[in-house]
Amino acid sequence: MTPIHSADRAIRALARAGMVLLLGAGLGLAGASSSQAGGRPTITKEAFGSVSGRAVDRYTLTNGRLRVRILTYGGILQTVEVPDRHGRTANVTLGFATLDGYVTSKNPAYFGALIGRYGNRIANGRFSLDGRTYQLPINDPPNSLHGGNAGFDKRVWNAAPVTGGDSVGLRLTYVSRDGEEGYPGTLRTTVTYTITRHQGIRIDYQATTDRATVVNLTNHAYWNLGGEGTGTIDDHRLLLHASRYTPVDATLIPTGAIDPVAGTPMDFTRPTAVGARNRSAFPQIRYGRGYDHNWVLDRRDTTYRRLESAARLSDPASGRTLSVSTTEPGIQFYGGNFLDGTLYGTGGRSYRQGDGLALETQHFPDSPNHANFPSTVLRPGQVYRSTTVYQFGTTR
Ligand code: GLA
Repeated sequence: MTPIHSADRAIRALARAGMVLLLGAGLGLAGASSSQAGGRPTITKEAFGSVSGRAVDRYTLTNGRLRVRILTYGGILQTVEVPDRHGRTANVTLGFATLDGYVTSKNPAYFGALIGRYGNRIANGRFSLDGRTYQLPINDPPNSLHGGNAGFDKRVWNAAPVTGGDSVGLRLTYVSRDGEEGYPGTLRTTVTYTITRHQGIRIDYQATTDRATVVNLTNHAYWNLGGEGTGTIDDHRLLLHASRYTPVDATLIPTGAIDPVAGTPMDFTRPTAVGARNRSAFPQIRYGRGYDHNWVLDRRDTTYRRLESAARLSDPASGRTLSVSTTEPGIQFYGGNFLDGTLYGTGGRSYRQGDGLALETQHFPDSPNHANFPSTVLRPGQVYRSTTVYQFGTTR
């Protein structure tokens, strides 16, 4: 084993000197190509521009057949490269090629970003906690969406590589001050991306607060297993381990009901083509211009501590598969319905409606206003913890 701590010190010195950082759990100079050959995990760092005078870095994590790029801006998962059934690699997540792509557009679709302090919508941007009412920014009228105008997706996170064993990771931290975007309490958040041995991306979220607040963290990566920019995901097959969902009103706020999916286009308890029913006149589909709902996962563990299977996505054309497991009670399946061809992605092609889908593990939208939903309240002394694993593979 490499003495990680002294290696870390040397690397920090290099980083201070403005040099590209290259770290490996074994031999630092292994590099990406030998990583692919030998499966040895590596993490490298490069400067990736700046936002409001703050430097942004891009980290590249590789382990065998998987390579991912993560930005310290928004904790954005920028690219995820995995092989198809013939071993041909493609980037299967939507994003932009440059930092400017994210900053100038304000990343309205939240490509790859960490979402906080509260994932999805809070009705009218208002909630009450311990007898006080809080007003959040209305950035998706009439509601507050994904943490407000400058949510965690638009913050520059501190980053530190995590190495050891046969995995490699990146620990991101962000301190959201009391009152930021209207939320009470200073929230200290740590999100760790780990590339697991078998083509998996694990995301561990942790947060503490100094005043009671609400927290619902997730990642907003969009997937197109045929490769980003190659067309729609209509032919992808989706399985959701969920026999119920939370129906919404016309503004995409849950009504409070928890309804069965059986007999409706919301039923993904068997693998079903995404495009088979997304033009249905079913009222819920109309509200979302397609799928944009929270499914209630069929969990054995309702303390939300154990990882359980949530979803499986597969692309018959490329053979790539993605399995999602989580500790969370819900998952937002969003079909990329608001992509309208105006954003040009990593490979230079425009993203149109349905060119990618998001599977956002989460507590239910608008939970602070629904006593019958699992609680999203975090109090001083408690630790918020959540884990999601995206596992890639192939089928014949
Ligand atoms: C979530 C929401 C969608 C949309 C996207 C971002 O998935 O539920 O309605 O806002 O984020 O475009």
